[in-house]
Amino acid sequence: MKVAVLAGDGVGPEVVAEARKVLDTLQCGIEWTELPWGSAYWHEHGSMMAPDAIPILRGHDAILMGAVGDPSVPDPESLWGHILKIRQELDLAVNVRPARLLPGVPCPLAGRGPEDIDMVFVRENTEGEYAGIGGRAHRGHPTEVAVESLVFTRAGCERVIRYAFGLAAGRDGVLTSATKSNASRYAYPFWDEIVEEVAGEFSEVRVERVLVDALCARLVANPASVDVVVASNLFGDILTDLAAALQGGMGMAASANLGLDGQPGLFEPVHGSAPDIAGRGLANPSGAIWSAVLMLEHLGLSPHAARVMRALEAVCANGPRTRDLGGSATTGDVGDAVVAAL
Ligand code: NAD
Ligand code: IPM
Ligand code: MN
Repeated sequence: MKVAVLAGDGVGPEVVAEARKVLDTLQCGIEWTELPWGSAYWHEHGSMMAPDAIPILRGHDAILMGAVGDPSVPDPESLWGHILKIRQELDLAVNVRPARLLPGVPCPLAGRGPEDIDMVFVRENTEGEYAGIGGRAHRGHPTEVAVESLVFTRAGCERVIRYAFGLAAGRDGVLTSATKSNASRYAYPFWDEIVEEVAGEFSEVRVERVLVDALCARLVANPASVDVVVASNLFGDILTDLAAALQGGMGMAASANLGLDGQPGLFEPVHGSAPDIAGRGLANPSGAIWSAVLMLEHLGLSPHAARVMRALEAVCANGPRTRDLGGSATTGDVGDAVVAAL
């Protein structure tokens, strides 16, 4: 199994090293290709990735990523040259983000525990507010203008919505579709229509339409009432940082960027490069290790995935814990503990 490693910037390399350490313990036949693309590469070469990055990635079975973004590179430059380009060009249609509070992890909501927080977010991943379509004109003049267009295609919406229905059918049978169809006149109402159409294929799933602002409040006030959420690219992005906080913080949350046509999936923690804590062994590697679990499932190694998840759960329950979870362990201590639990 060939896995490309995009460790990236900031805490990315720190958390990816722990995920690799854990997977190497399994001896399940993974061969790593380290790709040095990120902000340091940009300073040296003027681009975030090699010109043939996409075909190189396509030649692997999966991609394990840390994070990109560094204060020395403008964010749109680093992100559109890396993760957003990869999602679009590999056509990774769906971003699946489980948000489950593991026993032992402190929850910021008073009186809530693991039985209250167990959700999966299905985020559209190649278009919507992240279509990258727009422009700037008349720079420096009073008439200066910036336009950025939200673009929904029927094909792009249908595939992610259908994926979410399938997931909901295998869980509680309830799908929450998050939109903003009160203020939006064209795009989110179109999304709603597609939800209604696809609902016809899944009679066992009850679908509810919830405005995204109200959903934010509900996630805090009554998280147990939410199971599978499908949302546009931007709404999914915002909701999953909120959900990450509910599951113990940015360091806990995992994600799978999945193509639906046999492409290699890309697996990354939800958090960014965290420049504020980078290089100090403070980062929680749980989100990266959990992302590696999602990768093992994608590679057809479900028994290994289940073993790693159990080991991660044991470490969350018994410690050691990094500072964000109230402990004083280092990133490496947590990775070592997961290895020991395995
Ligand atoms: P961030 O997720 O990097 O950090 C937000 C907060 O969460 C910070 O206080 C940070 O210390 C904390 N945090 C993040 N990961 C943690 C971990 N593993 N353990 C403990 N605490 C953790 O978000 P940001 O500060 O808004 O963004 C920083 C940079 O990362 C920016 O350049 C941004 O564009 C980029 N970014 C990249 C990705 C990605 O590559 N997928 C995702 C999000 C943000
Ligand atoms: C995420 C990140 C990215 C996104 C950024 C880095 C472009 O926040 O994966 O959640 O918004 O998709
Ligand atoms: Mn995000």
